[in-house]
Amino acid sequence: MRQHTTARAHIARMAPYTLAEFAIPAGQRLISLAQNESLRAPSPRVARAISNHVSQLAQYPDPEWKELRKALSQLHDIDQQSILCGVGSMEIIQCIAHAWLDASATVVTTQYAYAFINTVARYTDANIEHVEEDAFTVSIDNIIAAADENTTMVFLANPGNPTGTRIPRAEIRRLRNNIDPDTLLVIDEAYAEFSDQCDDYLFDLTGSTQTVILRTFSKAYGLAGLRVGWGAFEASIAEQVRKLLNPNNISLLSQVAATACVQDQAYMLETCRQTAYLRDALINNVKGVGLEPPASQTNFVLLPFESAEAASRVDAQLRQQGMVMRSMAGYRLPHCLRLTIVNQRDMDFVQENLLSAIAEEC
Ligand SMILES: Cc1ncc(COP(=O)(O)O)c(C=O)c1O
Repeated sequence: MRQHTTARAHIARMAPYTLAEFAIPAGQRLISLAQNESLRAPSPRVARAISNHVSQLAQYPDPEWKELRKALSQLHDIDQQSILCGVGSMEIIQCIAHAWLDASATVVTTQYAYAFINTVARYTDANIEHVEEDAFTVSIDNIIAAADENTTMVFLANPGNPTGTRIPRAEIRRLRNNIDPDTLLVIDEAYAEFSDQCDDYLFDLTGSTQTVILRTFSKAYGLAGLRVGWGAFEASIAEQVRKLLNPNNISLLSQVAATACVQDQAYMLETCRQTAYLRDALINNVKGVGLEPPASQTNFVLLPFESAEAASRVDAQLRQQGMVMRSMAGYRLPHCLRLTIVNQRDMDFVQENLLSAIAEEC
């Protein structure tokens, strides 16, 4: 008898991952505030690096991402062998999940975890437990209390998405020391560049413990369109995850662009500086009209409204003028909207409209 003529039952049951809904009235210019992309184009070195490599496009890309790994290992003082690169950090999260999770596995994550971890738990059929946060901030105590010897993986984004809040890296070390040494700890640092200077890196943990640190070029480096992420892994974990990454995953142009970005730290740091300036101004302004956003250490701000209805009215009003924020209903935060920091000119327009929409609610 034929088997598996349809998708597996848990795949058929699951809802697809939902990205932002970008419908706006005809004739409006779209201002995307929904995907946490950078407020400016990547370093000018990217365009030069890409044009210098066009003649090589007949060949497959380097499957070992040698130049990119070399640049990353020099920047972060980590062993090149511990680095794996992916088509965005999403590909890496997906491959870690396929390697580690099945229906008998349990993932412990945070109350407002990055939505993609819910998706990969669903398609691997793993159980997932969301641990309560403390005022939109991860509680390490709560995670330690929830994780036991049956926990396969603890997944945590720091800073968090959609909250934007950050816990000190010493807290992550405390977590590592207080969970089972065999539990895989995945720390997603997609937004780390926006606050890297706050304390020491965690990469040393990946040398000696079952810990993975993930990073991306999609945020502070402004390379979301080329899809490059990377992670630092302990050798035996890297060995398994590598089997599941597509052998020629990252295009040649994406690899040279990401390498050029690493080599222009000054440009990336200036992006972070501009972002922080505009973000903190926005936070002050919305506080002035009665909102209480959590303290963001990222390139976005979570805006909590009085009710889901108020949030959806403000959302609709901005959308009428082409500004698209991210609804938070999928994060069980229907009274919130998430807003990405964009360039100064667009930000002025956004703030003017946002503040008047909020004022109408009061
Ligand atoms: C916390 C977090 N992790 C990972 C990603 C995905 O990044 P990438 O573009 O590298 O796949 C995002 C994107 O928004 C994110 O917010």
